[in-house]
Amino acid sequence: TVEARVDDLLSRMTLPEKVGQMLQLDARQDLAEIIQEKLAGSILHTSPAKLIEASELLSRTRLKIPLLTAEDCIHGHSFWPGATIFPTQLGMAASWDPELVERVARVTAIEVSATGIHQTFSPVLCISRDLRWGRTDETFGEDPLLISELGAAMIRGYQGDGLADPTGILATAKHFAGYSETQGGRDASEADISRRKLRSWFLPPFERAAKEGCRAFMLGYQSMDGVPITANKWLLDDVLKGEWGFTGTLVTDWDNVGRMVWEQKVCADYAEAAAVAVKAGNDLVMTTPGFFEGAQEAIERGLLTEADIDSAVRRILSLKFELGLFENPRTGDAERQREVIGSAAHTELNLEVARRSLVLLRNDGTLPIDPAGPARRIAVLGPNADDVTSQLGDWAGNSGQVGWMPDGHPREMTATVLDGIRATVPAGWEVVHERGAEIERLVPDPEGETFPDGQPRPPIAESAPVDPAQLDAAVRLAAGADYAVVVVGDTVNLTGEGCSTATLELLGGQIALLDAVAATGTPMIVVLVNSKPLALPESALNAAAIVQAFNPGMRGGQAVAELLLGLIEPSGRMPISAARHVGQQPVYYNQLRGQHGTRYADLTQDPLFAFGEGLSYTTIVYDGLAIGEPDVPVDGVVRATVRLSNTGSRPALETVQAYVSDLVTSVTWAHRELKTWRQVVVPAGESVTVEIEIPAADCTLVTADGVRVVEPGDFELLVGPNSRLSALHSAKFRIS
Ligand code: IFM
Repeated sequence: TVEARVDDLLSRMTLPEKVGQMLQLDARQDLAEIIQEKLAGSILHTSPAKLIEASELLSRTRLKIPLLTAEDCIHGHSFWPGATIFPTQLGMAASWDPELVERVARVTAIEVSATGIHQTFSPVLCISRDLRWGRTDETFGEDPLLISELGAAMIRGYQGDGLADPTGILATAKHFAGYSETQGGRDASEADISRRKLRSWFLPPFERAAKEGCRAFMLGYQSMDGVPITANKWLLDDVLKGEWGFTGTLVTDWDNVGRMVWEQKVCADYAEAAAVAVKAGNDLVMTTPGFFEGAQEAIERGLLTEADIDSAVRRILSLKFELGLFENPRTGDAERQREVIGSAAHTELNLEVARRSLVLLRNDGTLPIDPAGPARRIAVLGPNADDVTSQLGDWAGNSGQVGWMPDGHPREMTATVLDGIRATVPAGWEVVHERGAEIERLVPDPEGETFPDGQPRPPIAESAPVDPAQLDAAVRLAAGADYAVVVVGDTVNLTGEGCSTATLELLGGQIALLDAVAATGTPMIVVLVNSKPLALPESALNAAAIVQAFNPGMRGGQAVAELLLGLIEPSGRMPISAARHVGQQPVYYNQLRGQHGTRYADLTQDPLFAFGEGLSYTTIVYDGLAIGEPDVPVDGVVRATVRLSNTGSRPALETVQAYVSDLVTSVTWAHRELKTWRQVVVPAGESVTVEIEIPAADCTLVTADGVRVVEPGDFELLVGPNSRLSALHSAKFRIS
């Protein structure tokens, strides 16, 4: 059995070998030191060459315990040239389709496993509530249920038929838990979050991941109530392992153990920090080389026992046995790589996901542009119209985040919006292009050349000045065109870890570009290629159409072109609310009742675009919401039907959203919460009846004592196309 093999191996290991197994170190450092001196059992941020070097070095260690290799492959393989890069998690979430997300994860696992990587640091299950947070793009948005369902699907896709599946990879649910509840959107700040609030919103997606069989969890960076997450025994041990029965492996975030010494200053030295981390239940210690000496010293000083180390190492070795690494160290397979990396089938799926990720937010009837109509001239403008890096987003090789792909992916793998439109318009149509504006310029970080830990500080992005000549060239093209497609947004420098933004404005010359193009009178179609929803100027809001594309991946530009020309039906729905102004933060839909001031003196608190919002090229009318049996026992199911009528001439893929409002609660609670959704095709001119089922046991809240319960009483079922109250039909029911 695995247990017997682990016991046998453990009995033959020295203390340094055991501590080494707990290290997950950065392969961009000196690999010989990492593997032969620190005896590291795991590495991350490798490269094709480093993977070969690591196996060679490992073969010279005493016990030759296989290495666990890990990487942030969160929307495709992040460092392999030619790998399939899908839309970001936020983009995928706009599909509201767990089955599609599972297929994305399966394909990612197939490509990643072929390259000798065993663990991906995905899915991100953080709830994104402050749009300034730089990691919003990595999340599935703001709703715990949507995140839970898509996260569970991703885990299934990654882990395949179980850990021994050679085409599977180990999923890592992160960042456990509450990391996204930032101060002012700033990354990794203290999260002001109570245990009750955690249980109410932040923990459910993780509990679901644990139940789904996710075998690894990663911590965030934040502290809560003065306790660094790495030391949070209640969360890691009592809740995750105790209450949820998680038996997998816990990995810290980047140098979390060291941070307790040099940043948070809650431990005097690495021995203390190692003891605190191990006692709280951490197993793999990411990028803290000093843990090697610290843990051994902690044992000498009586802060830890060898048995404490043994428990963590036991979990790590079990994982390696379950992955089958002792029989097959899975160091990569060149033949499989040629077969699967960026294959035609994977590219086809990528296009399907990109199509499903696009959200049509506004349309005055200009879209779709009729390809059978007279020949047209289309001006494709804007800094993100033909920018591969912005389109692919964070963790995609091109961004420099990982650092091994200075040349990025082969250019022809990505269809930008400009490429897509050029390739899709009928013969005889004219497509012209100008950037019209820059978004940013990079300047040295005024806070210094290095971080406190000595790592170099990258340059920071500053809003670029308007370039009148560049602007003028674009405006001239717009004025002479039948349509102006203006592709604006943000860049990878304004996205990601440590890259939160103070504003949500379109930076640089983008607002000037939109204003000037709007003033030409040419119908303007705004395409947003951005990591997260941004606040839009009046000129964009009054445009003929707005398409939210997020970072739509390698096939994103083709999907956008197909949408503009009506070759596909728009079907994406916002997985997160968009703000009118940065000062509205937070603007998520499921806020607590009882906020006396529902608006600012100078601005509504209504979101610009609400959670769940999105249009199609037809009109779907909801009516006849009816509840089968309005008295439901606590162990029963609320059953309802609603009729959808397509009053237009095109079919639609409609996402029917069902929210529940608990009318009187013992504590203040959200006015409504998403409880289920159904996706149905409604053919042009036809009606369909959709059945909705919600177990009464899902109609819960978390009491003042932090216990999740159903409080029997009166409830309201709210059904419609998005989370806005004005869009929802209601029917009462009672749980007794
Ligand atoms: O996986 C990431 C994590 O999300 C943020 N810090 C670094 C880790 C490894 O790259």
